[in-house]
Amino acid sequence: MVFQDITAMGHENVLFCQDKATDLKAIIAVHNTTLGPALGGMRRWRYANEEEMLFDVLRLSEGMTYKAAAADLPMGGAKTVIWKPSHDAPPTEAEAKAMAKFVDRLGGLYIAAEDVGVTTEYIDWMVSVTDHVMGGTGDRQGGDPSPYTAAGVVNGMRACIRHAGMGDTFNNLTIAVQGLGAVGWKVCKAVHDEGGKLLVADIRSEITQRASAEFGATVISVEDIVTAQSDLFCPCALGAVIGNGNIEKLQTKVVAGCANNVLVDPIEDGALLKNKGVVYAPDFVINGGGLIRLAGLYCGFSPDEIDKRVANIEHAVFEILDTAGARTPHDAAIRYAQRRLDAGHPLTAANSQA
Ligand code: NAI
Repeated sequence: MVFQDITAMGHENVLFCQDKATDLKAIIAVHNTTLGPALGGMRRWRYANEEEMLFDVLRLSEGMTYKAAAADLPMGGAKTVIWKPSHDAPPTEAEAKAMAKFVDRLGGLYIAAEDVGVTTEYIDWMVSVTDHVMGGTGDRQGGDPSPYTAAGVVNGMRACIRHAGMGDTFNNLTIAVQGLGAVGWKVCKAVHDEGGKLLVADIRSEITQRASAEFGATVISVEDIVTAQSDLFCPCALGAVIGNGNIEKLQTKVVAGCANNVLVDPIEDGALLKNKGVVYAPDFVINGGGLIRLAGLYCGFSPDEIDKRVANIEHAVFEILDTAGARTPHDAAIRYAQRRLDAGHPLTAANSQA
């Protein structure tokens, strides 16, 4: 069953990790290292069962391969999932260090970073055990990547409104943001600063109240935000928010946000969105800013080079949308990334030197 899945999806290595002393259970999936060592976050999550955990890590690590390739980085794709034993089980230093030992054993083939449930503190604990980790607070570790992710998302949103013929500013546009966390909040601020109107929803009412006070945002219920009337819907919470029959109810012109795997079924739902005339920014292209930051630092890129690449997300999203033709944006983005994978190296000179 595992071999059947990893053969179909093309994974190189899947490592099941278990540490008795800390009760750590984790899976590291290295999908593809054609372009270089694979950098990917660790998701610490309360999974319903092992099958769900394995499915998540295989799918997410494959997405990282395309994300790194689309960003033209000399990096492959990988991801870790960590079994959270209960909803309120806090991450511990001992667990992080046990996790670091498994990462270290891969000798740099895999570079770990944060994802949902893993903080900079967790990374800092790991740094004492392995060099193959990014996103901690130390020198050259990069810290929290969310400002770079948010900047990339705002750039990608701009490409989408331009492609949709709505100009190139958020001024007077209505932007619906789902999830006001590390990325979503910063997106809201950028939209507000440019004169855009905000509709917001989050399961945390204190954060939506703050957005209402600081940005004049209109608070919408968590149930209604996806189908609220807007110029652009920006999903910044969890994945799988578009699909399962809600596409016909959408009242927006663009879907562009940071969440991974926004479409329940990228092929079917991507086609339904296209038929409805809704512009969709492929998630793994628009949300690559944080990866560009951490991978860039790991590869020795200068801060200017990193900023240039985050700014380039606007160009990449625009090119993908503009050249998609009959293809869906998701399909066009896979081809865009696949060009780098087929070449066996990044396509820009700066990357090739890294
Ligand atoms: P976060 O955990 O800081 O924020 C998520 C927010 O969504 C929280 O405020 C949470 O209360 C809210 N939320 C959860 N369920 C919700 C629901 N059903 N309806 C409305 N709001 C809900 O996460 P962060 O870092 O902002 O990331 C957001 C998404 O973007 C995640 O899916 C993450 O995997 C993805 N992403 C994040 C990157 C980063 O650099 N932080 C990079 C690439 C992807």
